[in-house]
Amino acid sequence: MKPVKITEGIYNVGIADWNIRDFHGYSTSNGTTYNAYLIIADKIILIDTVKKEFCDELLDNISQVIDPEKIDIVISNHTEMDHSGGLPRVMHRIGEDKPLYCSKMGAKNLARHFPQKWNYHAVENGEELNIGNKTLAFLETRMLHWPDSMFTYLKEDKILFSSDGFGQHFAGPEKFDDEVGDEIMYQAKKYFANILLLYSNKVLKLLDTVSEMGLEIDTICPDHGIIWRQDPVKIIQAYAKWSKQEPEKKAVVIYDTMWKSTQAMAESIASGIADEGVTVKPIHIRNSHRSEIMTEILDSRAVIIGSPTLNNQLFPTVADLLCYIKGLKPKNKISGAFGSYGWSGESVKLIKNELEAMKFEIIDPGLKIQYVPDKNGLSECFEYGKKIGKAVKEYTS
Ligand code: FEO
Repeated sequence: MKPVKITEGIYNVGIADWNIRDFHGYSTSNGTTYNAYLIIADKIILIDTVKKEFCDELLDNISQVIDPEKIDIVISNHTEMDHSGGLPRVMHRIGEDKPLYCSKMGAKNLARHFPQKWNYHAVENGEELNIGNKTLAFLETRMLHWPDSMFTYLKEDKILFSSDGFGQHFAGPEKFDDEVGDEIMYQAKKYFANILLLYSNKVLKLLDTVSEMGLEIDTICPDHGIIWRQDPVKIIQAYAKWSKQEPEKKAVVIYDTMWKSTQAMAESIASGIADEGVTVKPIHIRNSHRSEIMTEILDSRAVIIGSPTLNNQLFPTVADLLCYIKGLKPKNKISGAFGSYGWSGESVKLIKNELEAMKFEIIDPGLKIQYVPDKNGLSECFEYGKKIGKAVKEYTS
């Protein structure tokens, strides 16, 4: 990726990680980018760096705009190493004594990652930094999604450098929202569902604060994916909607299967749900990545989980998924459990226990069928699906 000019004197000098397919357990089928921003004002500013292994490319990109040694100030919006991994080389190159601005928690966290005694300037929420002909303002965004996270706002250009916020794991020839079109919204939704969902209340609070401050935003520059320059309001509104967790008239039937009996149950349940006019997606866990499943859960009202019983336990992939969902704490869900079994049949109860622990409303004790579901069994599943469909409609209407 070459430097991308955003506006006069402002560049994305980050890099594209085209081949990454697993980002700490999140599936990245379109790769990702680590964006870093160069501001050429009376003082020269670099916001964030890239993963350590891409630092040569970052420095090369900076060099195409300006001699890196002319950078006066580095800002670290977030300590996670996809953005801070390049700091040691960058600071070494530009001068170890150059100021490194970050949040108070950022100074602590960076010191826990890097032994260098950098010239930290820990900023307060709302603090401003005069860089001659321009002004930067810092906005603390604690737990979005790390305790050290903050945004940096360039007042004169109305640009918000939003760290992971509003990001998407996407690497492509397109660099801006107006170049990529609506398909980017799926990647933004997936990012929210897997990284920020747990902090939905904080996102809502932040959006309120930004609105109360009357912050004018012409451009949003996140640390991953495309830059929102044509319609930043679109992604802000999407975040407001996702954070409220108001589900759509939609259900997901998520399952794993050993001899296709639980699969047959899942498909009959899904048919029953669809019969009620509710959008439904049956999802075989081993054919979908957990981060894609989570994206479907985000706007579903009903989350129905099926598992065979294996050695008196859940099927391991189901246990894995339940653990993942539990951590992200989705809200406003109704749910149910089902599964085929051979001789002991604990899976339905085990799923139900997990769903209750997640504070999902259970619509039914669950449905279990021994060995292979016959015609009556499948009809029972269909009726179970109809019951779920009715409950979804009741809520969403
Ligand atoms: Fe893209 Fe939280 O790092």
